[in-house]
This record gives sequence, structure tokens and C-alpha cells, in this order.
Amino acid sequence: MSADASAGQAAPVKANPNGPTEETVLSVEHYTDRLFRFRLTRPQSFRFRSGEFVMIGLPKEDGKPLLRAYSIASPAWDEELEFYSIKVPDGPLTSRLQKIQPGDKVLLGRKPTGTLVLDALTPGKRLYMFSTGTGFAPFASLVRDPDTYERYEEVIVTHTCRDMNELTYSRTLIDSLSADPLVGEMVGGKLKLYTSTTRQHHERMGRITTLIENGKLFSDLGVPPLDPATDRAMICGSMEMIQDVKTLMLKAGLTEGSNAAPAEFVIEKAFAG
Ligand code: A2P
Repeated sequence: MSADASAGQAAPVKANPNGPTEETVLSVEHYTDRLFRFRLTRPQSFRFRSGEFVMIGLPKEDGKPLLRAYSIASPAWDEELEFYSIKVPDGPLTSRLQKIQPGDKVLLGRKPTGTLVLDALTPGKRLYMFSTGTGFAPFASLVRDPDTYERYEEVIVTHTCRDMNELTYSRTLIDSLSADPLVGEMVGGKLKLYTSTTRQHHERMGRITTLIENGKLFSDLGVPPLDPATDRAMICGSMEMIQDVKTLMLKAGLTEGSNAAPAEFVIEKAFAG
């Protein structure tokens, strides 16, 4: 962690003890003209559970913070914080955020929260993580957390994007896990990434909703259909995607859970815009 994290000039945002902290950009990687990831310093006092989100942003010209909710893509044990973001050309935040370089400052909220956490689910055998687009971010955190593998015998992450390029982050991350010193030995045989595209021709095409409905997801993976006795699910994508996948979970007999009342599936919107 950098000692610079709290350095810098005294901007108005720093006067508020509950306001965001100023963190340093450590690295930036662009995947497509719509997607990138970046890593920030993590203040020692910043605690979160894998799968949660937090407000991040940049100061506006008047010095006030412009913040948006972002899922934290790194696991709870990581010394740095990782985020996976869309780039919206006229988006108030992402039009500027996409230009950050190592050494730049990004604002980080102090109160991570969220429902895509292992504690919001009751115990089960198989955990599904259904994602589209940047909705993969909270799962990038959870697949790197040993707790995930301690709680489930099988972990199936689905990621659907418009084209192949947009699957680069999830594919390279999952591929790298077998060499990961912490979870490397746990993922073997337990973790499966199931990808599909909807607009570019690819061996597996279709929205995840279609692939659940027509049973292809289950036959491809060689697993039985959804069953509330064994299966748990987390859903992250656009509002419409969440609603549609949620409908399918309810139809399969799964009940929605929360931090206060853990159950069989949980949902969260992929925020960044
Ligand atoms: P589609 O190409 O058919 O719209 P986006 O990049 O717009 O955020 O979308 C990410 C992925 O989510 C795309 O593959 C998109 O498919 C898919 N998607 C969009 N809406 C839904 C929905 N209601 N249910 C399932 N998948 C969806």
C-alpha cells in the first residue's frame, strides 16, 4: 500500500471525515473501446466482504466529488482494490475515468455494502454466478476468495457479452486462477466459466436466459436442472437481465435472500454508467 494514499492537496472533499478518501491509481488495462479495469491503493482501514460495492469517482471542477457505485472486483484479502468499468463516451464519470493513468488520484467511498455476498445465501452444493457485461465484476472478487470454495462443491460462473472481445477480462482472470497461490488448488475441478455471446458469431451464442430456459446451460455443463435443495445463485447485470434471470430462479423454486434473511439467490444491478 502506498503512503501517498492520503497525501495530496487539501481539496474540499478531504475536509469531511465521512467523505471519500483519495487513492492512487496503480495500473490501468483497456480491453476494448467500451471496457477497462484499474487498480487502486487500498487504505488500511478499508474493510469489505468479497462481492460488495462502494462509491468511487473523481472531483468535479467545483471540487465536489462525482461518485458512482462500483462493485469491487478484487477479493477481500487483496492489498489493492480492483475495478472493472464500462466507458460511456458522454457518461459524466466514465468519460473522464477512462483517461486515468498510474499515479492519478481516484476518490473512494468509506462504506462498502451489497447483497452479492456468501453470507446472504443459505448453504448449498452448487453456486451459480450469472453475469452480463460489467456485471462480472463482483464475481471477479468472489472467484478469488477461498471462502467460495470452502462453502460450495461446485462454482459455475456465467458471463454473456455482445462479442468475444468483451469476454477477455473474465476469461483471462479465470484462466489465471489455477496458478493462483491462494485458490489455485481449490479451483481445480470446482470452478467453471461458461461464456456466451449475443451479437458476434461464436460456438456458443445466446442470452443466459435463453440458455437456462432451453436447458443448454445444464446439458453443456452436465449438471441437473436448477433445484432449490442444492443450488444457490447470484445475479449481476442490467436491470432487465436481473429481472429476467430472477423470474427464472423463482420459477425453479428458489427464494430471494438478503443480508438480513439469507436464502437461495441474491441480485445486484451492475451500476457503472
Ligand atoms: P443482447 O446483445 O441480446 O442485448 P450490454 O453490453 O448491453 O450491457 O449487454 C450485455 C449482455 O447482456 C449482452 O449479451 C445482452 O444481449 C445481454 N442482455 C441484455 N438484456 C438482457 C436480458 N434482459 N436478459 C438476458 N441477457 C440480456
